[in-house]
Amino acid sequence: MKEIGPGAMTTISFKVNGGLVEVEVSADDRLIDVLREGLRLTGTKEGCGVGECGACTVLLDGKPVNSCLVPALQVEGREVETVEGLAKDGRLHPLQEAFIEHTAVQCGFCTPGMLMSAAALLRENPDPTREDIARAISGNLCRCTGYHQIMAAIEDAARRIRAAVPETSEAEGAAGTPEARRE
Ligand code: FES
Ligand code: FES
Repeated sequence: MKEIGPGAMTTISFKVNGGLVEVEVSADDRLIDVLREGLRLTGTKEGCGVGECGACTVLLDGKPVNSCLVPALQVEGREVETVEGLAKDGRLHPLQEAFIEHTAVQCGFCTPGMLMSAAALLRENPDPTREDIARAISGNLCRCTGYHQIMAAIEDAARRIRAAVPETSEAEGAAGTPEARRE
């Protein structure tokens, strides 16, 4: 990780949703600041700001992390995925389609983080049990849904992705475990 003094700025480069970006950051900037303010990727939400709610979840090198806890300097040379990167070729990700169909989105504040945790799970485990799903989203709080619709949506998305293979590589590739959330 780059080190700079208090008040100093430096340029870091990293990939976001497949594209290389360069941004100026200070030692105090967090990944969520860079995403929302620097890059205007406002899909990622800030709830608690202290690593408790999961609203800010993004994938860092394929693993879910709370972007409010990750120093921006730590992402130099790495790969970040946000909710804006889920849809491909103008088509929603199966998770996004299933969340809509199962009414798993109510106020929507938790949704981007939930989707990213679920996306990491389904890449690693295309056929998760209910317990696997519960574990994967255990760091994502939802005040609206009671979680039932969210769990059902993730199960349904897993079915859709399995049914679509090999037409899509969505279920392929490495992603991290939910246990890797805290960085
Ligand atoms: S904003 Fe709540 S965990 Fe990051
Ligand atoms: S839909 Fe409102 S917090 Fe989850």
